[in-house]
Amino acid sequence: MNDTLVVGLNAYHGDVSAAVLHDGRPIAAVEEERFRRIKHYAGFPRDALAECLRIAGARPADVELFAVSRNPRAHMWRKALFLLRHRPRGTVGDRARNFAKVGALPAAIAAATGLDQRTARARTRFVEHHPAHAASAALVSPFETAAVCTIDGFGDFVSTSWGRLEGSRLFTDGRVFFPHSLGLLYLAVTQFLGFPKYGDEFKVMGLAPYGEPRYVRELRTLVSLKDAGGFELDLSYFRHWSDGVAMTWEDGEPTIGTVFTPKLEALLGPARRVDEPVDARHEAIAASLQAVYEDAAMHVLTHVQRATGATQLCLAGGCAMNSVANGKIRERTPFRDVFIQPAAGDNGTALGAALYAWHASGAHPRDFVMEHGYWGPAFSDATRQPEHSGRSAPRRHA
Ligand SMILES: [Fe+2]
Repeated sequence: MNDTLVVGLNAYHGDVSAAVLHDGRPIAAVEEERFRRIKHYAGFPRDALAECLRIAGARPADVELFAVSRNPRAHMWRKALFLLRHRPRGTVGDRARNFAKVGALPAAIAAATGLDQRTARARTRFVEHHPAHAASAALVSPFETAAVCTIDGFGDFVSTSWGRLEGSRLFTDGRVFFPHSLGLLYLAVTQFLGFPKYGDEFKVMGLAPYGEPRYVRELRTLVSLKDAGGFELDLSYFRHWSDGVAMTWEDGEPTIGTVFTPKLEALLGPARRVDEPVDARHEAIAASLQAVYEDAAMHVLTHVQRATGATQLCLAGGCAMNSVANGKIRERTPFRDVFIQPAAGDNGTALGAALYAWHASGAHPRDFVMEHGYWGPAFSDATRQPEHSGRSAPRRHA
C-alpha cells in the first residue's frame, strides 16, 4: 500500500460533492446538499470535503491530489469559434463568471482546508467533465473491457461522449458538442410542462406512463438523428445557445432560465403554468418526450455497440438517471451487461475525477467494484451521531 489519498470535487455546478480514494479505492463520497439541506446545492462542497476527510481520518495536508471534475481549458478553440460564429447574447457573462470560479478553485480549496494557496494549486488537477462521468462508471465496473457512454446536459462544452474501457484505461471515440444535447431536450420540455426547478426532469419521466404518446411526431422535429450515433437539435426551439439563459451555480440552489422559445408553444399549444393542474395533454407530451428521448438514446447506444463490438456497457451522465430508458437497453440494443454509476449525475463526477486522476498514469491496477452507494456519514437510530470515524472500510448496509 502506498497510503495515497486522492480527493475528488464537483464544484460550481449542480449537485456539488466530494469523494476520497485511499490507494485508488473509495472510502467516502457525499453530496453537499445533505449538509446544507438545499437540494442540488451548487457552489463549493465545503462540508462534503470536510466529511470525506473526517471519514478518512486524514488532514488536508495528507491529500496528494484534489481532482476537480471540470477543465476550463478543454475544447477552448471550439468555444471560441462558437462565440465568434453565433455571438450569443447574455450567456457570455454567466459562463465567464463560472469559468473564472472554476479556474479559481485552488484558492477555494486553500480557503476550505487551510492549505496555503501554492500547495493547493500544485495539488489541483482539472479533469474534463465527460471523462470524469465516464470514469465514475467504467473504473468501478466489474468489466475488464467495455463500451463506455455518457449522456448529459452539458459539461466542458460536451453533451454526449462514448468510447472504450480497456483495463484501467479509458478512450474517447466520439462526442456531441454544445449546443446539441439530449439533456437539454428533456430540460426544455420539462420546463414547458411547468416544472421549472433544476433537476425536475424525473417528474416528467414519472408523468410519462400516464399519457398517450400522441405528440411524438411533433417532438421528433426537435431532434434529428444523424450518422455515427450523432444527433442535432432544431435550434429554433431552443434559446440556450442564442438569447442567453440566466444560470446560477453559486452558493445555494442552482437556477436555470427558460431554455425553449415561443416556437415550442406554436408546436404543442400553451406551456403549462406552474400553478395549473396537469391534464391529459400534459401527460401526452410527457409520454411523447420520453419516447423521443428513448429513441435518441438507443440511437446513440446502438452506434456505440456497433463501433466497439462490446456487449458490456458502462453508462453515466445526467440522462443515465432516466431509469425507464435504462431498463430498455438490453431489449433494444445488443448490450447484454450494463453497469450504471448510481450517482450518474454531476454528483458522481467527484468520484469520477478522483478515479480518473488516480488511473491517469496507467500504473495502478483496478481492484475495486462499486456494489453500493452508501459512502456518506451513517447515523445510528439510538444516538443520531455520525458513526464513521477513522480510515476503516465503510460497512456495506443492508
Ligand atoms: Fe454532467
